[in-house]
Amino acid sequence: MFSEQERDAIYKVIRKRRDVRSFLTKSIPEEVIGRIIEAGHHAPSVGFMQPWNFIIVHSQKIKKQLAWAADKERRALAIHYEGERQDHFLSLKVEGLKEAPITICVTCDPTRGGTHVLGRNSIPETDMMSVACSIQNMWLASCAEGIALGWVSFYKKNDIREIMKIPPHIDPVALLSLGYTDEYPEAPILETSKWAKREEISKLIYVNHWGKKK
Ligand SMILES: Cc1cc2nc3c(=O)[nH]c(=O)nc-3n(C[C@H](O)[C@H](O)[C@H](O)COP(=O)(O)O)c2cc1C
Repeated sequence: MFSEQERDAIYKVIRKRRDVRSFLTKSIPEEVIGRIIEAGHHAPSVGFMQPWNFIIVHSQKIKKQLAWAADKERRALAIHYEGERQDHFLSLKVEGLKEAPITICVTCDPTRGGTHVLGRNSIPETDMMSVACSIQNMWLASCAEGIALGWVSFYKKNDIREIMKIPPHIDPVALLSLGYTDEYPEAPILETSKWAKREEISKLIYVNHWGKKK
């Protein structure tokens, strides 16, 4: 189905994709944004419910309000850490909402598809999981397009609903900052800033039973 070169390209994008916090002001062509959103819309979804919407924000005023909501939450979350860890947390850059030329708010509508979405009755969160698949598609597509993307989830949902006039039953799942960058990281920023590191994969794989290694 795919040539070796095409297969390698997929794995390359998966490995190269990074969460990015620094953006240039240069704008992104409309057709590129269109392709990225189209990639999001081609994600799998439970019962094919496609619970997502994409709100594209160019307005500097709205971006500033979103940045305010994220910063308020960042400061509130600092109470979970003490001493040096708190200083370290507060030194991390956790969003680039004002700098990025566009923000896309990806939402989840749990009512889409009515009360009996195939497969969703057992695990109601599968609607959110579907939106996460959509976001990952957008992230990989952005990387392939040479566009940096940062996922921001530091906010109170009601702040975002208020700023963007989102109805109460709709979940604002993510704020995605998109733009060009001259600082596309080689490794996760949280790894280079020594906040966390990638787990050894062999520790995560079990066989037949929980905890049973090969
Ligand atoms: C559900 C989700 C929410 C996230 N929220 C934030 C966030 O609010 N701020 C932030 O700086 N990074 C956020 N990230 C990015 C992660 O910190 C990042 O993916 C992780 O450190 C690994 O780095 P990488 O994406 O470059 O591989 C989020 C990622 C996911 C999947």
